[in-house]
Amino acid sequence: AAAPMLTKLQQDCATPLPVLRNVAASMSEDIRAGLAVDGGSDLKMILSYVDSLPSGDEKGLFYALDLGGTNFRVLRVELGGKDKRVIAIESDQVSIPQELMSATSEELFDFIASALANFAHKGGNFPGKKGEIGFTFSFPVKQTSIDSGILIKWTKGFAVSGTAGKDVVACLNEAMDRKGIDMRVSALVNDTVATLAGARYWDDDVMVAVILGTGTNACYVERMDCIPKLQGEFSPSGRTIVNLEWGAFSKGLPLTVFDRDMDAASINPGEQIFEKTISGMYLGEIARRALLHMAEEGSLFGKSVPEKLSMPFVLGTPDLSTMQQDGTKDLHTVGSVLYNVAGVESNLSSRKIVLEVCDTIVKRAARLAGAGIVGILQKIEEDTKDAIFGKRTVVAMDGGLYERYPQYRRYLKEAVAELLGPETSQNIVIEHSKDGSGIGAALLAATNSKYGRNL
Ligand code: BG6
Ligand code: GLC
Repeated sequence: AAAPMLTKLQQDCATPLPVLRNVAASMSEDIRAGLAVDGGSDLKMILSYVDSLPSGDEKGLFYALDLGGTNFRVLRVELGGKDKRVIAIESDQVSIPQELMSATSEELFDFIASALANFAHKGGNFPGKKGEIGFTFSFPVKQTSIDSGILIKWTKGFAVSGTAGKDVVACLNEAMDRKGIDMRVSALVNDTVATLAGARYWDDDVMVAVILGTGTNACYVERMDCIPKLQGEFSPSGRTIVNLEWGAFSKGLPLTVFDRDMDAASINPGEQIFEKTISGMYLGEIARRALLHMAEEGSLFGKSVPEKLSMPFVLGTPDLSTMQQDGTKDLHTVGSVLYNVAGVESNLSSRKIVLEVCDTIVKRAARLAGAGIVGILQKIEEDTKDAIFGKRTVVAMDGGLYERYPQYRRYLKEAVAELLGPETSQNIVIEHSKDGSGIGAALLAATNSKYGRNL
């Protein structure tokens, strides 16, 4: 009885080429409308104030803070001064405690400042001059300069009180004052922007960066004369990085009742619809809702419905990935994940259905992400005199979902190839830029150093 439900799910989640084309075209359209005026579309098209990219000659000791995914990281990066010489990178990583996500702003920033203080002291060589920080803060921030910006709203399940509407650099500075830390933020950046800068350091052809992790987002290098809302402000390079905040995109997405119910139950209903359809925080939960429905209405796991399966977010996206890597004949891994995570007893036929459900949700997500990337590339191509198609163009990817879900990566690349056709897609390199954001933030702190050459 669960089989027809699976068929229905597959139909509702289908992403044939016309659906993808439409999503890509809407993405391009929303990009243009968001560049025209603030509020012009779902996409905020946030100006990053990063209008020169690392040259390779950056020199000195810099810190990077990275808040926004599942983990919080502090890094110390020593840059050698020429030929892209990174002398040393050290880092500390802690997973963000659940309770901090609904703490007060002071508590959150005190946590960050304490982690920074511990790390800086541990290294022993607390810099003589004030330490400079590249602060990667991966939420929608209305930048007011390269080193300041106001939090528009939280995403990805964060519900910290008292930060929205405030300058997050000021919040960090206050926390550093409370802890007696004498450092300053030289660059405030989104994780996509830091990833782009980090990847560009090694490869001049990087034009776009995409994060697929807990949340999702993209940024790219835009020509300033293509940004009407800049109202004639130009930098020497004539280019700047724009952060789409594409998690808020919403047009033409094939959604199911499970997506709608999950959205309604979320802390931000009606918001971040693209993010809720394609990113790591949500894929496990969509699958759980589909499986629960099949258990209740189609006896997927026998007569009784496993109690734990009713718990929101018990099934994580990493669990889906683990199950999909199962190569055993009896789908042993699928069985143990179901049992350990959701208390579900399964047999071979129910395990097969579970795998199909995972695949359906993941395939839809990855193909839509691919369509989003093509939407950005097409926008650049259409508005740029020196076309990017026909020459090598790199899209730098990072985030736990992209890194740890092989099927997701494959489906995404397939969709990009389908949309662009074999010839064009040959030149588009979709590349994992592992932890580029750490060094990227440090590089941007160096480029925007308050002290000229640090060290
Ligand atoms: C990391 C990047 O690899 O991925 C971060 O360095 C980014 O800047 C993060 O925020 C997102 O991944 P996740 O899976 O932790 O959300
Ligand atoms: C969320 C944030 C965005 C970030 C993305 C990936 O969508 O709003 O700023 O880049 O997650 O971490």
